Amino acid sequence: MTTPRLRHRRGRLGAAVSGLAVTALTVALAVPAAAAGSTLQAAAGESGRYFGTAIAANRLSDSTYSTIANREFNMITAENEMKMDATEPNQNQFSYGNADRIVNWARSNGKQVRGHALAWHSQQPGWMQNMSGTSLRNAMLNHVTQVATYYRGKIHSWDVVNEAFADGSSGGRRDSNLQRTGNDWIEAAFRAARAADPNAKLCYNDYNTDNWSHAKTQGVYNMVRDFKSRGVPIDCVGFQAHFNSGNPVPSNYDVTLRNFAALGVDVQITELDIEGSGSSQAQQYQGVVQACLSVARCTGITVWGVRDSDSWRASGTPLLFDGSGNKKAAYTSVLNQLNAGGTTTPTQNPTTPNPTPTTPPPTGGGSCTATYSEGQKWNDRFNGTVTIRANTNISGWQSTVTVRSPQRIIATWSGSPSWDSSGNVMTMRPSGSGALSAGQTTSFGFTVQHGGNWAWPSVTCSAS
Ligand code: G3I
Repeated sequence: MTTPRLRHRRGRLGAAVSGLAVTALTVALAVPAAAAGSTLQAAAGESGRYFGTAIAANRLSDSTYSTIANREFNMITAENEMKMDATEPNQNQFSYGNADRIVNWARSNGKQVRGHALAWHSQQPGWMQNMSGTSLRNAMLNHVTQVATYYRGKIHSWDVVNEAFADGSSGGRRDSNLQRTGNDWIEAAFRAARAADPNAKLCYNDYNTDNWSHAKTQGVYNMVRDFKSRGVPIDCVGFQAHFNSGNPVPSNYDVTLRNFAALGVDVQITELDIEGSGSSQAQQYQGVVQACLSVARCTGITVWGVRDSDSWRASGTPLLFDGSGNKKAAYTSVLNQLNAGGTTTPTQNPTTPNPTPTTPPPTGGGSCTATYSEGQKWNDRFNGTVTIRANTNISGWQSTVTVRSPQRIIATWSGSPSWDSSGNVMTMRPSGSGALSAGQTTSFGFTVQHGGNWAWPSVTCSAS
C-alpha cells in the first residue's frame, strides 16, 4: 500500500495532479499532516464526505460481509429492499421487514441511510404494473407518502425518482406507465416526498448521465434547472455510475458533476461499480473519486455492493473487495485518493474565499447560458472552462469573462478573444461558426495568472 505519510493539508496544494504527483510534491514540501484515514469512511470523512455501500438484507448474517461493511462504510443503501415491489407488495399493504433489517443495522452501527427508491418504472409490484392514468398517479403518490412518512427522520437522502430519462440521443423522458400519467409526475413525487419527510434530501437518480455531452445528461440537467427555477423541491442528483469497457468513466466527469452542482443541488455518486481488474480498474476508480473531490457539492460516494461476489454483475468483478473479502488494487487507489484529497473541497483555501459555483442569469434574451468550471490549478495560475449552452437555436454567441485584479488571463483556447482597455474583461467569440441548436453546448478555455486572488471569474453569454 502506498498511503502517503506526509501530505499537504487538503486543498492548499491547489494543483489538479494525480494522487502520485500529490504525494511526490508533498514529500518535497515536507509539510506534516494529520494521519491518513485507514478506512474508506474515515478517509472520505476528512473532507466532510461519506463513503457508502449497497447492502442486501439476506447477506447481513455473513460475518465477513458485515464486518467489512461496518468497518469501511458509513452510508447504507438497501440494494432492493426499499423498492416499490418490496415495500408495497399489495396495494395499500406495506411491508418493511427486510428494509427495516437494513435500516436498523445501519443506525445501530452509527451509519446513515440513503433511501432507494420511491418511484421507478421498474421493480413495480404486479398490481401497479397494470395500472394507468389517475389511479396510477394516485397510487404512486400514496406510495411515496406512506414510505417516506414511515421512514421520516431516518433517511439522509431519498432517491425520489429513479431512471426516468430515456437512453440514446433524444434527451427526453423514458416511456413508462408513470410517464404516461403526465409529464409532471416527477415533480408531483418530489412534492409528496417533501411533505412526508421535510428533512431528507430529495434526489433524482439515474444512470448514463456521467458524460456531460450526452443527450441524457443534458435532459436531466434541464429538468433540474427547471425544477430549481420553479421551486420544485429537489436537493440532489444521484449519478449511479455503473461503468465498464463499453461505458467507461468519461474524461469530463468532473465537468458534469460541477455543472449540476452549479444549479444549486448536491451531487452524489450513488451506485458506483466499474467492471475490470488490476491497475486499469484501480485507475478508473481513482478518477471517479478525484472528480467527486474536485466538486465541493459532491457530498459522497456509494459503491454498489461490498465484495465482487455480492455484485449484481459479479462476473465483471466490479467492486473494491474480492470474493474472499480481500482489498483489491481498486480499494487501495480509492483510499489513497481520498487521503490525497482533491483540487477543490469544501475546506479549500481556508484563508481565501472559496467562491460558490454560479450559473449567471441567462443573457441575450435567455438564448444562451454560460457556465464556468474550474480546471487545473497551480501555485501561480489556474485554468477555467466556460460552457456555452444554447437555450434556443442560435446563429452566434459571445461570452465575457471578467477576472478580478490582480488576475490576468495569460492564455486562451477554442475561441477568438479580445480585451477591454482595463484588461480585466475578455470577450470570447467562436473561432468558426457560432451556430448552435437548442440544447447544444460548446466550450472554450483560458489560463488565469492569479497573483494570489483565487476568486472565480464571472461569465456571461449573449446570443445572436
Ligand atoms: O431474491 C430473489 C430470489 O429469491 C430468486 O430466487 C431470484 C430469481 O431470479 O431472484 C432474486 O431476486 C433478485 C434480486 O435482485 C436479489 O438478488 C431479482 O430477481 C433481481 O431482479 C434483482 O436485481 C436487482 C436489480 O436492481 C433489479 O432491478 C439487483 O440486485 C440490484 O443490484 C439492481 O440495482 C439497480 C438499482 O436499483 C438501480 N440502478 C441500477 C442497479 C443495477 O441494475
